[in-house]
Amino acid sequence: MCGIVGYIGKKDCVSFLIEGLKRVEYRGYDSAGIVVLDESSSSIHIKKSVGKIIDLEKKIDNRDIGNLGLAHTRWATHGEPSMENSHPHISNNKKIYLVHNGIIENYISLQKRLEAKGYKFYSETDTEILVNLIESYYTDDIELAVKKALFDVKGTYGIGVLHVDEPDKLIVARLGSPLLIGIGENENYFASDPASVISKTDDVVYLDDKEIGVIYKDRVVHKNLEDEIITKNIEKIDIDVQEIEKDGYEHFMLKEIFQQPRTLIDTMRGRIILDEGTTNLGGLRQHPQVYNALIKAEKIYIIACGTSWHSALIGEYMIEEYAKIPVEVEYASEFRYRDPIISEKTVVIAISQSGETADTLAALKEAKRKGAYTIGLCNVVGSTISKVTDAGVYLHAGPEIGVASTKAFTSQVMALALITVDIARHKDMSFREGYKIVKEMKLLPTLINSILDNSMVVKDIALKFKDAKNFLYLGRGFNFPVALEGALKLKEISYIHAEGYPAAEMKHGPIALIDKDMPVIFIAIKDAIYDKVITNMKEVKARNGVIITIASYGDEEIESISDYVIKIPDTTNLLMPILTVIPLQLLAYYIAVEKGFNVDMPRNLAKSVTVE
Ligand code: AGP
Ligand code: GLU
Repeated sequence: MCGIVGYIGKKDCVSFLIEGLKRVEYRGYDSAGIVVLDESSSSIHIKKSVGKIIDLEKKIDNRDIGNLGLAHTRWATHGEPSMENSHPHISNNKKIYLVHNGIIENYISLQKRLEAKGYKFYSETDTEILVNLIESYYTDDIELAVKKALFDVKGTYGIGVLHVDEPDKLIVARLGSPLLIGIGENENYFASDPASVISKTDDVVYLDDKEIGVIYKDRVVHKNLEDEIITKNIEKIDIDVQEIEKDGYEHFMLKEIFQQPRTLIDTMRGRIILDEGTTNLGGLRQHPQVYNALIKAEKIYIIACGTSWHSALIGEYMIEEYAKIPVEVEYASEFRYRDPIISEKTVVIAISQSGETADTLAALKEAKRKGAYTIGLCNVVGSTISKVTDAGVYLHAGPEIGVASTKAFTSQVMALALITVDIARHKDMSFREGYKIVKEMKLLPTLINSILDNSMVVKDIALKFKDAKNFLYLGRGFNFPVALEGALKLKEISYIHAEGYPAAEMKHGPIALIDKDMPVIFIAIKDAIYDKVITNMKEVKARNGVIITIASYGDEEIESISDYVIKIPDTTNLLMPILTVIPLQLLAYYIAVEKGFNVDMPRNLAKSVTVE
């Protein structure tokens, strides 16, 4: 994964690089490093640190100055987080510096080739092979050497390269990992994410795969790997700085949980036609072929990973129940390596907050190869998945910085509901039913606010259970995927083992785990299968389990079989997950904070998983 940032200009760039790096720290935080070259004194300064950027910052002193440089925050793939494995990596002759996001898959054969030529390696990374491969091709032109090296590489990369003898330029290239160039006045920047450059410029050029950029202070030359000059468009970044600040909240995750009433409005904006009882998604309707294929589809696959996979499961329940199209939800990583049956009547929907997840992207490419129409549900505008799909729906949830996904999940569920209504209204769904659903959609932000107003109830429960070793999350129907999502949130940020199950499935195994030390969270709202869930709760109580229930306002009966109850308002069943998940997000958050963990950057994780 990793985040990379670079600068070339006339000013000292250390503080820009550090600030820029902090903006992409969500991409990985195993180690961080920076190199700057001061053209006037021809001196080079490199600092690295294991751990967070703040630790790197502490190592920087006032001698570390330079007017061009590279910086990196790492999510380790090859080799543990250590000083040796930290980027920037340096070539054997100490002339070339490289930051890399991605994986060089054929690094072992390249390493053997280079070792035969006498190269030595000091880290366990694939990246160090690449920097030396570039050196092996270097005569007097770094651009040429990079191009030649990239021809030999299999895998993925977003790279930034600096050669000490050519301080007038930085070289960047991409294949499979995001990279953009920020255009300034007599200074230019590059980064993995627009958030890193937004404080300096909102003019950016997004690199596409197999493109390279030669960045000078006052211009940028774009080429493909065949050395042909290409013309690229300058695009405007459409995020404002406030969106990527904590805005007074203690953590980004808390801010993002509390933003959900607003982000859902943004997901719905302009997409509901109340007086026709339906929805209108421009990103689909603008592509009539794809739109018609979706409405007439005989089968829909939804591919995703992690939290996005959970929203996909909710999508399956929605589309099958209301739009009557068979849906199969697959982990993107599995879809890719099976031989899924795809015909021209199959539509593949990929869900991804980041739009960069390598597994999802690869699965999508496989689906396209087999002839399916593809639709992307992405949050990050201009992301790779949003570009390679035939049509798409942006979530418009704004930048999600907390590694544990919250607001993107509710926006994904909303986007799936909007799509479901659109398809269903072309089929059997009546105006009355469509109207009821879209009207309920509009009420959701107010209902979420009422849940957030009660967050202290959840906090109290969190304090009581923060030392539990295991949690079980149970729900049925639309709320089964919410149980999975609640368990994932807890695992990710509090490191407590948690499992999600369909409530009725519990008796087929997990019930063996239940004792007085096992908190069991039930989602038991008043819906068609409420009575069945009550039966499952009684089964837990009979075995001395401790029950925490997410229940509907006004449900008095639930108090007698639960130890703790979190009451929430009701909505129509397909939208219910948007409400039931909120207390579970809060519970995971408060437990993790109470345990003293870094909720925004949980260990071993990264926001955007751009490696397989
Ligand atoms: C969510 O909390 C996770 N950090 C993770 O499971 C995530 O949902 C997954 O990696 C997929 O990411 P994407 O939505 O950006 O594709
Ligand atoms: N493969 C490189 C490393 O392990 C970069 C990792 C990444 O981009 O996630 O250092």
